[in-house]
Amino acid sequence: MKASATREVARIVAARKTTEGAGVRLNRTLGGPELASLDPFLLLDEIRSDRPDDYAAGFPSHPHRGFETVTYMIDGAMDHKDSVGNHGHLAGGAAQWMTAGRGIVHSEMPQQDRGLLWGFQLWVNLPKAHKMMKPRYQDIAPTSIPEIAGERSRTRVVAGAYGGSTGPVGNIDVEPLFLDVALTSKGSFAHAIPKKHTAFVYVMDGAIRLGEKQSEVRERELAILTEGDALIATCDAERGRFLLLAARPLNEPIARHGPFVMNTDDEIREAIADYRSGRLTEG
Ligand code: FE2
Repeated sequence: MKASATREVARIVAARKTTEGAGVRLNRTLGGPELASLDPFLLLDEIRSDRPDDYAAGFPSHPHRGFETVTYMIDGAMDHKDSVGNHGHLAGGAAQWMTAGRGIVHSEMPQQDRGLLWGFQLWVNLPKAHKMMKPRYQDIAPTSIPEIAGERSRTRVVAGAYGGSTGPVGNIDVEPLFLDVALTSKGSFAHAIPKKHTAFVYVMDGAIRLGEKQSEVRERELAILTEGDALIATCDAERGRFLLLAARPLNEPIARHGPFVMNTDDEIREAIADYRSGRLTEG
């Protein structure tokens, strides 16, 4: 029996405007009331504004425990500093995969006072066994991300494999695929995705069509994909640029409170107590 099946759009979630950090305005699709999580993904926020008032306040010092935060910049720049002295600068095209593990306290601040700031933050859960691991950073320069040029398409490979190239982010529990795909009119894209992996598409610019059914997905919409072996995308608009994310689901209980994502309420209480007493980042 041939087991091949193309993934289709199961559901579309439109971004909702919300405010985070010290007053940053952003577009949230995952992690809000409509879609709390998509195992193992916990949150997807997009900042896209050329008005400094929307982003300048940034994300001053705040903690994380129990998961990974992924920052991917399209335009503009973000500075990252943590409480134990790590420092990173993310320019347009750069990525940072930060495994918070048992705890980090950091700030994420836009490094500009004018012009377009466009970027994403994705939260990826850690399995129970690694929630308290030592924190780890993978800072990826723009030139370290393979870029595959096709006819009417361009694909950047942040994590996972595409077109014979493997992305620079490695050694992540949930075996993620993170692609940034840009199509122009009449362009198309096809890629195999492990059948049981959770997968979704976020359209950041223009519009695309997904699956055999050619379901339209527009700018600032997240499309949850059905199970299947492969995804096909086409563009009949002027352009269509999207993130394709896929990963192995964890199927573990989630206890979540703000920047802490654990398995039980007791572990959340412990995280809050550790943060208050300054022990969050102690190993
Ligand atoms: Fe953060």
